[in-house]
Amino acid sequence: MDKVPLNLSPEEESLLESLEQQNNWDGYPICKFQGFWLPFWLFHPLLCFQRNFKARDTDIMLSSMPKSGTTWMKALLFVIANRNQFPIDQSPLLVNSSHKLVKSLECDYYMEHDNPDLETLPQPRVLSTHLPHQALASSLIDSKCKIVYICRNPLDQFISEQHFFLKNRLWPNATVCPLDESFGMYCDGVHAFGPFCDHLLGYWNASLENPDRVLFLKYEDLKRDSLSEIKKIAEFVGLPFSEEEEKAGLVGEISKLCSFDKLKDLEVNKKGVHYGTITNNSFYRKGGVGDWVNHLTPEMADRMKKLLEAKLTGSGLML
Ligand code: A3P
Repeated sequence: MDKVPLNLSPEEESLLESLEQQNNWDGYPICKFQGFWLPFWLFHPLLCFQRNFKARDTDIMLSSMPKSGTTWMKALLFVIANRNQFPIDQSPLLVNSSHKLVKSLECDYYMEHDNPDLETLPQPRVLSTHLPHQALASSLIDSKCKIVYICRNPLDQFISEQHFFLKNRLWPNATVCPLDESFGMYCDGVHAFGPFCDHLLGYWNASLENPDRVLFLKYEDLKRDSLSEIKKIAEFVGLPFSEEEEKAGLVGEISKLCSFDKLKDLEVNKKGVHYGTITNNSFYRKGGVGDWVNHLTPEMADRMKKLLEAKLTGSGLML
């Protein structure tokens, strides 16, 4: 595998060495840290984020497992938060990938710099993370910032991620596991940012404890009733639509602008490059609900059903 610079201090190196380690199903090493599996390349950025990030009460934080609808929610949050500055037909989303407009704390900002200057970002800052709730910087937990979490049917999320790994070949000399092996690791919770059930439950429980701080959304609800969900999000982040905006049909316009078909066909998303071998178009595959039936056996689906019953019963969370 090509070497990714980890930028570890001697202390971080010995801490990493002391942790349980495995290979993710994309072939890249992960370590068990603070109760979840973290890719090695994010070890140093995570520590810098936890040490240095200063949350603001006005921040809007998007949290998700990869392949749960992050790209879509970034687009929606950017447009909702900046709608007074940019009319829909002049939205920066028309010429920029949503990952450029809403960057990830651990994969972008703290990957590039140990202590990035986030003070000059326009307010409200819209930021994103794949980290589980228990790994968020304490300043974020202590602030009044808004956390929007999006989850997705784990079978669809798993299939989406397997396709993403196969298409992008993130680690040129690493082998992506065959589907049944990857699925086994996913169900065992051994995968980047997993176990996914703990990821879901961490944010789910936080949303029950602090409903005005954490909004828990489902990809499938957003697909089924985008307009109501968009209104819910805007209200939650403290930027509700006015009567005039609603009458003018702004919610529908935002929904259309951020729809799969619209974004997928934009030049920037058809041709642009995200990082290295990752193309913008790899974030737009099918954009539907239930594609797992085309890839997984009924036995695999049954295994997942039993796993979810065992892990989620009593939590109130239904997937
Ligand atoms: P599929 O692979 O099932 O098509 P993430 O953004 O978290 O990486 O998730 C990617 C998944 O969300 C992919 O799912 C992708 O097609 C889908 N997606 C991207 N943009 C979307 C949009 N605007 N509306 C609905 N789904 C979208």
